[in-house]
This record gives sequence, structure tokens and C-alpha cells, in this order.
Amino acid sequence: MSDATFAPGTFSWPMRRRLAWFSLGLALCTMALMALGSSTRVMNAGLSCPDWPLCYGEFLPQNQMNLQVFLEWFHRLVASVIGFGTIVLAGTAVSYRARLPKWTPWATGFALFLVVFQGVLGGLTVTELLRFDIVTAHLGTGLAFFSTLLTVGLLLLDYRPRFATGRLRWVALAAAIGIYAQSLLGGLVASQWAVHQCFGLTQLCAVLNSHLIGVVPATIGTLLVLGWLVRLRYQSRLDPRLQQCGWFVALFLTAQISLGFATFRLRLQVEPLTVAHQTIGAALLGSLIMTTVWAFLSSVQDVETVSPVDLTEVHITPPVAASTKA
Ligand code: HEM
Repeated sequence: MSDATFAPGTFSWPMRRRLAWFSLGLALCTMALMALGSSTRVMNAGLSCPDWPLCYGEFLPQNQMNLQVFLEWFHRLVASVIGFGTIVLAGTAVSYRARLPKWTPWATGFALFLVVFQGVLGGLTVTELLRFDIVTAHLGTGLAFFSTLLTVGLLLLDYRPRFATGRLRWVALAAAIGIYAQSLLGGLVASQWAVHQCFGLTQLCAVLNSHLIGVVPATIGTLLVLGWLVRLRYQSRLDPRLQQCGWFVALFLTAQISLGFATFRLRLQVEPLTVAHQTIGAALLGSLIMTTVWAFLSSVQDVETVSPVDLTEVHITPPVAASTKA
């Protein structure tokens, strides 16, 4: 993307900001939805609604309602609301494309494609009776959708750290990809119940081990990001927002590894731990994406001295009022 793509003077800041917060709100809801999906899986509720898209042929299956049916039904309901929200997001981006950066309709269109694909995969998880590859693809697409919404929102907010960050954006991007890959490996373990299979029947241990070994590169990548941020801090060149990102990355990495070990040692006996492991994994990915986007924005030149607030003021001053004043 060229620097001109981010030249904010040509865009309407109020519209841009509204869309940014809408996208970030959808990303937050998606994280909650993934936690709900994980709860549905650990409660063995994935097939509690035997049909799709309705549940027992009804929108609200009152007669069959119990905790498991509720989890699966509510997961679908929230997913539909988020799907509808994404249509609104993409539709708004297309309608107001003249007042937004050129990439906005494409990026939100991609988010729409992902959410439709995610819906199809959701249907297939039911009709294919929780086939492990489809369940893992469902997790992977959910994380990709969450990452896209977060990236769109942060780019539209267009916050720019004051200091140059060198190649931090590439290191953070590589770390985010590492965490994404590690999450997919975790999805393969979870969807095949590889922990029980390995300990009970000595089967699928390779699947379990791949996730355990994957912890090493995923952790090293994340530690490199933290090391970079610490170096910038010692050079007094660390922007406060990137510093906050660093705290989140450190917190989520520690929590994720601790939760992973706890889940493993307790052999999945404590369901909330498993759900938390999935959710904190998504939060860790999100904090690395945030670091990547802000490091990327800090590398966009020629705007260091101008903040979005200044630009809003410049933009909303009507030319007529200006000439009347003159
Ligand atoms: C950076 C580190 C890690 C990430 C990003 C990560 C991510 C994930 C994800 C996304 C899942 C799928 C959860 C679900 O679908 O409900 C998972 C499952 C799992 N993870 Fe991790 N994980 C990490 C580290 C660890 C560690 C250190 C351990 C243990 C030593 C561990 C043990 C497990 C186990 C046992 C499962 C299977 C849970 C189940 O069957 O329900 N993870 N992981």
C-alpha cells in the first residue's frame, strides 16, 4: 500500500472513525463467539441441534431446550447477528467508498467472504457430524475473520506511533502467523480428542506432540517481539500504545502457556480452562496483530507531525465559512 493510501486529509474522519469502531466491535463480538463455540465443543453440544440452519426445524426449539441445545442455538444466533453486522460493514464501505481509503471496500468484502464461508463450514460441521478437519477449518476461518476485522478497524483508526519501529512490523507479523499456526495445531488436537486418545489408547500422540512442540517456535517468535519492544523502551523510542501492546502480549503469552499446561495436566477435566485456553489464544493473536498494524502505521512516512485530530479539524472546516470569514 502506498503512503498516499493513508493520506488522511482526503477522507472524512467521522465516517472513517465510525466504521473503525464498528469493525473493532464486531471483532470483539467474534472473540466472544469463539469462546461460545469452544464451550459448545467442550460441553459435547456440537450436535445438539441435529439440523441446520434451523434447530429441530424451528427458529426457537422451546420443547427441546436444555443447556446443550441452548449453547448450540445461541452460538448460531450470535453468529447470524455478526454475519448481518458484516453485511452492514461491507455495504457501508462500498456506499461511502469515495470518503474512505481505497482498500476499505476490498478489505470489508474479504471479511464478508470469510463470514459466509464460516457459515458454510458451520453447517458442514453439523451435517458431517463434527469431522475433525471441518471443525479445525471452522476455527481457522473464525480466527482469520477476527484478524481481518481487527486489522480493518485499526487501519481505519489510523493511529500512528511517534517513533520509527524499524522492522518490528515484520517480526510481529511472523509471530502472529506462528500463533495462528499453533492455534490450528491446537484445533487438530481438540477436534480429535487427541489428549484422551493418546493417554487412553496411545493413538494420535503425534497430533498432540505437534502442538506441544509448536509451543517452542510460537513462543520464540512472540519473545522476539517483546525483546524488540524492550529495546525501543530502553532507547526511549517506544510509543505508549505500543508499550501497552507489549504488556498485553506478555500477559497473554504467560496466561496461554500456563492454561495449556493446566489443561494438559488435568486431562481436560476442567472445562472452563479449555475454553479460556482457546479464548486467550485468540487474544494473544489479536495483541500481536495490533502490534503489527501500529508498527506498520509508524513506518508510513510524512505524517509524523500531524495527528488525526488535527486532520479532522482541517477537514470539517467548510470552505464557504472560511471565505466568509476572509
Ligand atoms: C502459544 C501457545 C499456544 C497457543 C496459541 C495454543 C492454542 C490452542 C488452541 C487454539 C487450541 C484449540 C482449543 C479449542 O478448540 O477449544 C488448543 C488446544 C490445546 N492446547 Fe494449546 N496453545 C498453546 C500452548 C499450549 C501449551 C503450552 C499446552 C500444554 C502443554 C497446550 C495444550 C493444549 C491442549 C491439551 C489442547 C487440547 C484441548 C482439548 O482437547 O480440548 N497448548 N491450543
